[in-house]
Amino acid sequence: MRVLVAGGAGYIGSHTVLALLARGHDVVVADDFSNARPSVMDRLAELAGRPVALEEVDLTDEARTEEVVARSEPDAVIHFAGLKAVGESVREPLAYYRTNLDATFSLLTAMRTHDVRRLVFSSSATVYGDHAPVPYPESYEPLAAASPYGRTKVMIEQVLTDVGLADPDLRIALLRYFNPVGAHASGRLGEDPQGVPNNLVPYVAQVAVGRRDRLQIYGDDYDTPDGTCLRDYIHVEDLAEGHVAALEHLEAMATPVRAFNLGSGRGTSVRELFDAFCAAVGRPLEAEVVGRRPGDLPAYWADVTRAADELGWRATRGLEEMVADVWRWQSANPDGYPRERAGQHPDVTPA
Ligand code: WQD
Repeated sequence: MRVLVAGGAGYIGSHTVLALLARGHDVVVADDFSNARPSVMDRLAELAGRPVALEEVDLTDEARTEEVVARSEPDAVIHFAGLKAVGESVREPLAYYRTNLDATFSLLTAMRTHDVRRLVFSSSATVYGDHAPVPYPESYEPLAAASPYGRTKVMIEQVLTDVGLADPDLRIALLRYFNPVGAHASGRLGEDPQGVPNNLVPYVAQVAVGRRDRLQIYGDDYDTPDGTCLRDYIHVEDLAEGHVAALEHLEAMATPVRAFNLGSGRGTSVRELFDAFCAAVGRPLEAEVVGRRPGDLPAYWADVTRAADELGWRATRGLEEMVADVWRWQSANPDGYPRERAGQHPDVTPA
């Protein structure tokens, strides 16, 4: 299939681009590099053995988005584009609602104009809110989220559900990610947060390379086996393969819209993860226990039966592999991606 990957230069998007190419799909990346480095495209070309087509575009611009869809003539769209920092979304809610919703509206409008009826959307386990039973089942309702970021995901799921009801020929997979971690096994692609990392694994990785002094563990007095929170960490390469499985399943879907959890199906504590990371690095790292972070839930993980039964997909990479791959990436790229691109490729479409 020919796939337009919106947000394809980002952390999960870039890994998915490689997984798509490995399965013989044809890819066009659409990204504005607002939260990704252009040099990701060099790394993708290097790993793919050929340049990857790029459309540099702000997807909230409806006219430009329409041109991109017209030019790239995709069979399907995978939509990763959006803002994703929970804390920032509380401070800048309007930016989150505007960016995440407008980008989706532009894509949906352009897809309708050009008769593209296959979509895979990046949703999040955050849509289960505070009350869903663990492990979280996709059938749980009502969806709710505790942050503006999370509410953009709930809203977009609702928009896509309504759009699917109005056009029964659409096929849309809503992929609810748990906690994506890990990096490409080559050490050439990984997570490169701008500023102080908000999430556990990139923070520990920066402690390991000396960019941060110590990890702060947010609370060890939860009602969990070691007192720290449990989360469902999933290797980004498993996640990328989950997108390919969902894309290839769209045609067989019995209903226009279907949600799938992408997780490992098991809970890992902050301490277990930290200890595994120290083991991968081969020396102890510093950590201190501080107070709970407001809004954190004690423990949740995914019910993975639907993805296994319907997509034929399940996560295969364990904790050791996740942290080893993060360490390989972070130690080889202590400051993340290069700021500049090595060079423009001849088939890259100019902005
Ligand atoms: C994991 C665990 C923290 C940092 C968030 C969003 C979610 C999704 C992924 C998507 C928790 C603990 C963390 C630190 C710590 N976002 N922790 N010290 O909160 O499960 O999920 O990111 O785009 O929507 O809510 O992930 O990595 O922040 O935290 O002790 O410095 O690590 O308390 O238990 P979270 P996280």
